[in-house]
Amino acid sequence: MGRVIGVIAIKGGVGKTTISSSLAASLANEHNRKVLLIDANYSAPNVGLHMDIVKPECTIHDVLYGKLTLYDAIHRKFNVDVVPGSYFYTKKINPLKLKQKVQEVKEKYDFIIIDSSPALNEEILSSICASEHLFVVTTPDYPTLACSLRAAKLAKNRGKPIDGIIINKSRMPDYELDLRDIEKAVEIPVLAKIPDDKTNIKALFERMPTSIYDKKSKFAKEISKLAGVLVGAPESVKWWQKWIFGVGKDAINRQVLKKSYYEKMFNSVVGGNKDE
Ligand SMILES: Nc1ncnc2c1ncn2[C@@H]1O[C@H](COP(=O)(O)OP(=O)(O)OP(=O)(O)O)[C@@H](O)[C@H]1O
Ligand SMILES: [Mg+2]
Repeated sequence: MGRVIGVIAIKGGVGKTTISSSLAASLANEHNRKVLLIDANYSAPNVGLHMDIVKPECTIHDVLYGKLTLYDAIHRKFNVDVVPGSYFYTKKINPLKLKQKVQEVKEKYDFIIIDSSPALNEEILSSICASEHLFVVTTPDYPTLACSLRAAKLAKNRGKPIDGIIINKSRMPDYELDLRDIEKAVEIPVLAKIPDDKTNIKALFERMPTSIYDKKSKFAKEISKLAGVLVGAPESVKWWQKWIFGVGKDAINRQVLKKSYYEKMFNSVVGGNKDE
């Protein structure tokens, strides 16, 4: 049964699409899972540019406008089923139909990743309502953190507490909010701290997810850890890394999240057997 994960933020340019594309590619290629990636940034849909889909024939806009299903708009790239958006759609769509469209295909996938819009209107609500799990992407600075707080509140009010924060584009840690400050302010665990990595620029130029373009890059390695948690794989930390750096709070948070995901799953299976 598919897990539906929304990647949200109320600020543009923090890395939602970059992270969504690489997470989808990592789940599909490193972990052999069936993955659907949906572009739910209806005003500025960029997923196609990250997944080498330049002129999509059918898009999320067509799906939300008419009677098409998500299957009708799938473009298969990098072993991921991708539903891109259209820059040029002029008809009025209903973003809140996304939830129903996702439910129709959910059983066929292990993971459905929804790349959200930052627009504080029905565009972001579309992703929040359609998702079962939410990750907020933030950069480690006060203005973006304030927006992340707002996103967290919005999701909470909709009965969708956020599973974790992804701190992206860390450049100068000495001049940035640290992981514990962010956790304290937002009261949500930080699941990953991703450095600013120029590999992303090269990957985007080649229209490839960074996890595929260079899986040894710092960015791809952090995404790979996150994907590992989602599939319940053990996270290996080399002994010398543990010795020098200790175990990071983000790594501990990932283990806690993994336990909560898989305990829930285990309990529901056990519960199911009891009823039989
Ligand atoms: N860790 C990173 N290091 C360096 N560049 C990054 C990183 N993450 C994302 N970028 C770059 O930042 C830019 C914005 O990223 P992206 O489009 O993913 O943001 P977004 O949150 O989806 O924006 P929008 O809200 O407009 O959809 C892109 O050029 C991308 O390559
Ligand atoms: Mg985007």
